[in-house]
Amino acid sequence: MCGIVGYIGKNKIKDILLEGLAELEYRGYDSAGIAVLQDENFSIYKAVGKLENLRNKTQDFHPEGFAIGIGHTRWATHGKPTELNAHPHIGSNSYVVHNGIIENYQELKASLIKEGFNFVSQTDTEVIVHLFESKLTKLNDPVKAFRATLDELQGAYAVLLITACSPETIFFAKHGSPMLIGLNGDEKYFASSDTPIIGLAKEAIYLEDGENGYLDATSTHLFNEKYEPVKEQTKALATSKLSAQKDGYRFFMEKEIYEQTHVISDTLMGRLGEAEINFEELDPELFLGINEIKLCACGTSYHSALAASYLFERYSKIRCSVEIASEFRYKEPLMCKDTLFVVISQSGETADTLETLKMAKRAGLKSLVICNVDNSSMVREADASILTRAGIEKGVASTKAFATQMVVFWMLSLYLAKQRKTLTSIELAKHVSLLREVPSTVVVKDELHEKLRRLSKRYLHGHGFFFIGRDVFFPLALEGALKLKEISYLHAEGYPSGEMKHGPIALADPELFTIALMPTNLLYEKTKSNVEELSARDSTICAISAREFDKADDFIKIEERSHYMHEFFEMMVVLQVLSLEISVRLGNDVDMPRNLAKSVTVE
Ligand code: M6R
Repeated sequence: MCGIVGYIGKNKIKDILLEGLAELEYRGYDSAGIAVLQDENFSIYKAVGKLENLRNKTQDFHPEGFAIGIGHTRWATHGKPTELNAHPHIGSNSYVVHNGIIENYQELKASLIKEGFNFVSQTDTEVIVHLFESKLTKLNDPVKAFRATLDELQGAYAVLLITACSPETIFFAKHGSPMLIGLNGDEKYFASSDTPIIGLAKEAIYLEDGENGYLDATSTHLFNEKYEPVKEQTKALATSKLSAQKDGYRFFMEKEIYEQTHVISDTLMGRLGEAEINFEELDPELFLGINEIKLCACGTSYHSALAASYLFERYSKIRCSVEIASEFRYKEPLMCKDTLFVVISQSGETADTLETLKMAKRAGLKSLVICNVDNSSMVREADASILTRAGIEKGVASTKAFATQMVVFWMLSLYLAKQRKTLTSIELAKHVSLLREVPSTVVVKDELHEKLRRLSKRYLHGHGFFFIGRDVFFPLALEGALKLKEISYLHAEGYPSGEMKHGPIALADPELFTIALMPTNLLYEKTKSNVEELSARDSTICAISAREFDKADDFIKIEERSHYMHEFFEMMVVLQVLSLEISVRLGNDVDMPRNLAKSVTVE
């Protein structure tokens, strides 16, 4: 999804903007651009495709000394990925970059065209810069003109604007899309997430929705949506980006699969007692009067939520329902105050999920977010938060975020079980010791990786994949199918094993690949019967199990385990590595698959 950077200062502005954009690359984009204003002159560069193209275009551009500038990576929403549609968008003497969607851009565009403005792009963003210049002509004051512009914009946005009539100032506004300001003496940075700023600024202002203002090298002017001054609240920024480097792995996704063992240890750290789970960040009163849990999320986070619903009902004996955020938003849902509303998100910025959280809060529900990014919009919005501690996840295809979400959910179901007295101390102690072993279940062994690499060559074609499983292995099947389709572009579906005979089995033939999740500790015989039904219809079967299965064409053996959740985590790794290797053989961009964005901040 789109990314924004901005800079005011005396340092190498071109490098700061381009390196900042490179930090946002993993979010997905299809064009990029920068605009620099120095000594009242604008320099503007845009390019379609990878940042390398933009770097090449700026080869002879070497600004020295004080300058201000803005940059953007665009993930096309309105209009194709072309240079004209790339940001920054130009007025006659101003430039703008924008994340989000201006919903009323067509009305605004029509009236600006009547005023005589000429549009060169198909984007919604371009209205912002023309609207600003229209207001500037009438009001003759850039601050008033910027505010009058914001007053007319509807939708979600984060905006940076620079203008020749105030050549040392960046105007900014946040309304529904993330934005923060990094501070380092008389150097100022803007970014849509903290990674471009880490190492450059020590502290940051995370803007709240409705906040806007302008700043230059020596002063910051921050206002709320009524344009009343707001006192800046700064927060310390992390100091190291080391964890976001590839560390010798071919891809971020590969590195992130391998580091699951460490990040799961981090997720568990300080939270495991003898026979209880400690979440210091939770006020136990959060669950007072709660009779139901509603989980809401998108994509991979939705899959972890679905798996969690089995754990909450099984261990905490509490009713639990799961919703896809984009569906929940418009179904006119009934929300009861005895429901705890839980959103799950790696980024904490997914527009649909964030909106459901706001809806639940408006309806008076208590809320909790399970999230990987501290200070993200959801963390700030929810009543309570549990951080998954997976570290920065750069691969668009989520891996370690899912793993840590599952660990948090398992712990949370036990935390609640203790509160609700639905498990005995002996049972809780048993679970705690099982949790301690999870990091070892996700270690990627060389032999396994090599086997999956060899096997992958047999799964590059065919007319589709079914991933099947029962109970928590059904959401895991959904997640396995999502991983495969995201990075291999092969058609894959996840199904509950028992559903196959209700329709999907009609597709079975040798060109239909079934990836069967066959845990030995949970419903093995039931799953086995379902897989045999597919095998009898000549579907090509790849079984994943600790128990040999002679009806499979390919067999991936996992360790004998005493608990199904350990089988869950080991199979999760198998599915991740298998998808990765299929994608590599197909020559795809593993970390930045086509059409996808890491953080989906538009609905
Ligand atoms: O940041 P979130 O967890 O809210 O993101 C939700 C989905 O966009 C995300 O999980 C997406 O499905 C991933 N690409 C999955 O690999």
